[in-house]
Amino acid sequence: MAYDSDDVTSANTGGDMDWDARAATFDEEPDHGLRDPGVRRAWAGRLRGWLPGRAGDVLDLGCGTGSLSLLASEQGHRVTGVDLSPAMVALARRKLAGRDALFLVGDAAQPPVGEQRFDAVLVRHVLWALPEPGRVLRHWAGLLRPGGRLVLVEGVWGTTEPAGIPAERLTGLLAPIAGQVRVERLSDDPLLWGGEVTDERYAVVATSGVSDQEGGEVAAAGQ
Ligand SMILES: C[S@@+](CC[C@H](N)C(=O)[O-])C[C@H]1O[C@@H](n2cnc3c(N)ncnc32)[C@H](O)[C@@H]1O
Repeated sequence: MAYDSDDVTSANTGGDMDWDARAATFDEEPDHGLRDPGVRRAWAGRLRGWLPGRAGDVLDLGCGTGSLSLLASEQGHRVTGVDLSPAMVALARRKLAGRDALFLVGDAAQPPVGEQRFDAVLVRHVLWALPEPGRVLRHWAGLLRPGGRLVLVEGVWGTTEPAGIPAERLTGLLAPIAGQVRVERLSDDPLLWGGEVTDERYAVVATSGVSDQEGGEVAAAGQ
């Protein structure tokens, strides 16, 4: 994600952004549109390592224009994407037209997926802007099938007024929820971003640590 430091401040978090207005140009950033073959290959390689080895059901929350959804689909997964922005969803539908993929307008914090459960919940650059991330992570863990995983790509952007969620905080939030938690540092791979970056960027892959029922109970208890 490439916002300049004026763009992302503590007073102007992702929750305040007009994502519909940004949709038409969103893919112009190298790591958004993945238009450069080298950048695309870099993300495809990482994603292959994060998602299950076998074809499964992937829920891409805050899917944007569907760039990661498309990579997941190309790797054989069935994709459900959810985004609050109708303009983003329209672009994702177009990008994955003809594929085994469904895109819904909805809140990533409470995705409108009914009783469906997933082999992976994939979320890139969205969690940091959601209120109550701990509660949201519990809900997402409850959407996983046994043996499923959360794949969370996050970071801290900007230097003067950094915005985002540090890996240490995210792993702390996952500790009571998840089984194994693996952090992969992404800042030192310029291919992912279309150039050198100096801020914190990472992915966390967390295996399911609670059953669906437990996840529901914890969420219901409001913890
Ligand atoms: C930085 S973009 C990331 C898009 C995509 N995950 C990617 O990595 O290319 C953030 C996306 O999250 C969406 N978003 C923000 N808040 C959301 C929410 N509460 N529920 C669903 N989508 C949300 C925005 O509309 C936008 O498409």
